[in-house]
Amino acid sequence: MAITIRKGEKKDLAQVPEILMDSYRGLEEYGEESIEKARRYIEDLYDEDPECFFVAEVDGKIAGFIFCNRFWYSKFEHSKVGAIHEIVVLPGFRHAGIGKELIEKAMEFLGPGKIELWVGEHNTKAIEFYKKLGFEEREKAGKWVRMIKN
Ligand SMILES: CC(C)(COP(=O)(O)OP(=O)(O)OC[C@H]1O[C@@H](n2cnc3c(N)ncnc32)[C@H](O)[C@@H]1OP(=O)(O)O)[C@@H](O)C(=O)NCCC(=O)NCCS
Repeated sequence: MAITIRKGEKKDLAQVPEILMDSYRGLEEYGEESIEKARRYIEDLYDEDPECFFVAEVDGKIAGFIFCNRFWYSKFEHSKVGAIHEIVVLPGFRHAGIGKELIEKAMEFLGPGKIELWVGEHNTKAIEFYKKLGFEEREKAGKWVRMIKN
């Protein structure tokens, strides 16, 4: 499987909400309630740091994406940190290293320093995935767990 990671473009935003909805099947409590809400959520993520959006393509089709933010203020770290706000890979493309490549691209772009993310407390696959990539579990807030990479 030939995977290409490239910078996301504004025109990619048209496809991304549906990919998000398909990727959160079975994890609905952590996803968006509707495609309309997904669209607004994705636009907000893009507006936060448009340069920090990358997509993974397989045979010219988007199989996953990541949104990060270079300017995130962490209330927990009392400082600016890099943040990963969303990452998904479509079910049919999982376990092929796409998620890892997307995270590595975002980490390279974010540069040195701490990286924060929040994950659903019962999203064990994602928690394990992040742990393998060097993230550690920190505080819990409601159904969310904060993870950090130093
Ligand atoms: C979390 C998520 C992004 C991971 O994506 P992915 O592309 O499957 O991730 P990777 O392939 O890089 O790694 C996942 C697993 O595949 C394994 N893997 C990596 N490369 C592999 C390869 N070439 N062959 C087989 N397995 C491989 C990894 O070791 C890892 O092992 P695991 O099965 O024990 O978890 C994906 O599961 C997803 O979209 N989940 C739903 C949305 C979500 O929860 N997002 C996070 C929100 S906080």
